[in-house]
Formats: sequence, structure tokens, C-alpha cells
Amino acid sequence: MEQRIDRKRLTALLDGIQGVKAVLIGDMCLDVYWFADMTQSVLSRETPHFPLPVVEEKMSAGAGGNAAVNMSVLCDSFLPVGIVGRDWRGACLLEVLKKQGISTEYLVEVDDRVTNAYCKPMRRGFSAEVMEDPRLDFESFTPLSKEAEDALLEKLNEATKGADLLCVSDQFASGCITPKIRERINELAKGGLLTVVDSRSKIGLYRNCILKPNEIECARALGMADDALSRERADEAAIKAAAVALSEKTDSSVCLTLGDRGSMVYRGGDFTPISAIKLSPPFDIVGAGDCFLSAFSLALAAGAETAEAGAIGSLASGVCVKKLHTTGSASREEILALYDSAN
Ligand SMILES: Nc1ncnc2c1ncn2[C@@H]1O[C@H](COP(=O)(O)OP(=O)(O)OP(=O)(O)O)[C@@H](O)[C@H]1O
Ligand SMILES: [Mg+2]
Repeated sequence: MEQRIDRKRLTALLDGIQGVKAVLIGDMCLDVYWFADMTQSVLSRETPHFPLPVVEEKMSAGAGGNAAVNMSVLCDSFLPVGIVGRDWRGACLLEVLKKQGISTEYLVEVDDRVTNAYCKPMRRGFSAEVMEDPRLDFESFTPLSKEAEDALLEKLNEATKGADLLCVSDQFASGCITPKIRERINELAKGGLLTVVDSRSKIGLYRNCILKPNEIECARALGMADDALSRERADEAAIKAAAVALSEKTDSSVCLTLGDRGSMVYRGGDFTPISAIKLSPPFDIVGAGDCFLSAFSLALAAGAETAEAGAIGSLASGVCVKKLHTTGSASREEILALYDSAN
């Protein structure tokens, strides 16, 4: 397997990462799993439905919250900045973050928005197999109020004072990264703060950052078909051309992630192809992107070369894809264990 980093250097960088002062601004979300034991279900008298008797409830941080957990696992000085609604989901999300040892001081609580949440009813029957029902999503579809935006801006400014790294997780159409907040992020990036961005639909609006789109996000930002950069349609030359096009459009560097094909970094006029760790199935790729973003960005902030940061991102996301049925994060020990088993 191709490894661009030796063990001594990997250990030194993981030590360095621990001391990075990192901030993440983004759309925090609560993931809720309700496990129903359908063997206990009795036909309702009032409706022609079998209810879902919930016997177990699990909660974790999703979207930007998952990226936050991933960062906090690797570095000691980490602050998430974002918006939380004053509702039961907000209270649960704050609790989940606190339990992970994450500061909630820079999260702004507001009354006029719902806390983003994905609630997943999971059915179990006689076998151990679990089936997911349609999700119940909580999302605000109106823009952030001016008051909330101002409060968030203040938190962003405070949190980034003396920071080494700013990560951005811009996930929802009407999320917390408003045009004004994005303008401030671009300004901080221009001022020299290392800024790494993951954005579901607006990656093309950032400037002077390092952008981390996946193949679909990159294709969309360039006005191409969703599958234009897929394995079937794009060779290495096409992937490189897309990275350059996005970079030129945004005055930014680009780290284009490609699932099990690894990633392609275009930075300072140079290409750095990064291979994914070769793993055997089964996989659970949910959260792999957050894990890559966190480890890659922290490694750069700790002084890693592009190829070294890419190797650390691949290792961390490799740990994550082997954690089944959970978004998953990668600790220093898990990263080192995967490195050792892969060599
Ligand atoms: N099957 C796999 N085997 C090994 N590594 C993988 C696999 N899938 C993903 N990865 C690693 O995770 C990184 C990020 O994956 P991907 O490009 O799918 O991100 P993403 O689409 O942003 O993910 P997400 O769905 O979490 O947003 C890849 O560059 C690769 O290093
Ligand atoms: Mg992603």
C-alpha cells in the first residue's frame, strides 16, 4: 500500500495536532435513532397501523456536529461555533457535545429556529437485522434573523482570535452560514487564517480557502452533470481538470475527495494524488467525509506537507468506514493501529 508518511513522522504530527487551536463553524445537527421492537407491536384500535414500540434511543451529533466530534477527538483546544434552537433537540445536542468534552460556549441559542435533527425510526423483528423507516427531519427553511446572525458573527470573531485553523461545515440551504457569515469567513481566510471548507451546495462561493468537495459537490459547483466525475466517466486527467477549474473559480486550493478512489489535492499549482486505504468490506461510509476533513485540516495546521496531511486524512477516514452503523470518528490510537496493520 502506498504510504507517504513514516511512523515517526506520523506520531510527531499527531502530537502536533493535539496542540492545534482549532475552530469549526457550521450547521450542527442531532442524529436520533429510535429502535422499535416490532415483535411487541399490537395493531392500533384507532388506526389501521402497527405502532413502533421504541425500546432503545440513541443520540449523536450529526452534520457539522459530527465534524466537531471528529476534531475534538484529535485536538485539545477546539471550539465549535453555530446555532442551536431552544427546543428538546437543542437541549439533547448540547448534552451530547458536553458528554464528548466539547465546549458549547460559542453556540448561539435562538428561539425562532428549530434545532436541525435527523430522527431515524429503526425496526427490529425476529432477526437481528434492522430496517430504517423514512427519516423525520427538523430543519429551518427561513434565513437566520439579523440578531442571530450578529450574535454568531461575534462568536466567530471571538473564537478565531489566535486560532491556527478554521473549518467550515456548510450543510443546509438556510443554515447558519449566511452570505454575511461567509463574507467574514472569506475575509479571515484572506487575512491568512488556514480555512478548510466542506459545503453541500455552496462550495463555489468561498474564496482563499482550501475547499473539500466530494465528486458530486465539485461537479455541481462547475455546472457539470452530477456523475461527470464518477469512476465511469472521469479519468485522472478529468479529475485534475475539475480541481483546477474549481480552484481558479474560487482563488482557493482544492482537495477533491473521491470515496475509495482517494482524493486529489491541487494546491500552489501542484497536484498531490492521495490514495485511500485498501480495506475489505463491509464498509459504512457515512461520516467518512467529516473524518477526512478534520484529520486533513488539523494535520495541515500542525505543519504537515500536503501529501502527509492527505495520508493522515486517508487513515482517519479509513478508521471511520470500518465502524459500521455509526457516523464514527478516529482517535490517535485508532489511526496508528490502522497504519500498523496496513504496513
Ligand atoms: N470504501 C472506502 N475505503 C477506504 N477509504 C474510503 C472509502 N470510502 C471513503 N474513504 C475515504 O474517505 C474519504 C472521504 O470520502 P468521500 O469522498 O466519500 O467523502 P464525502 O462524500 O464527503 O463523505 P460524506 O458522505 O461523509 O459527506 C476518501 O477520500 C477516502 O480517503
Ligand atoms: Mg461530504
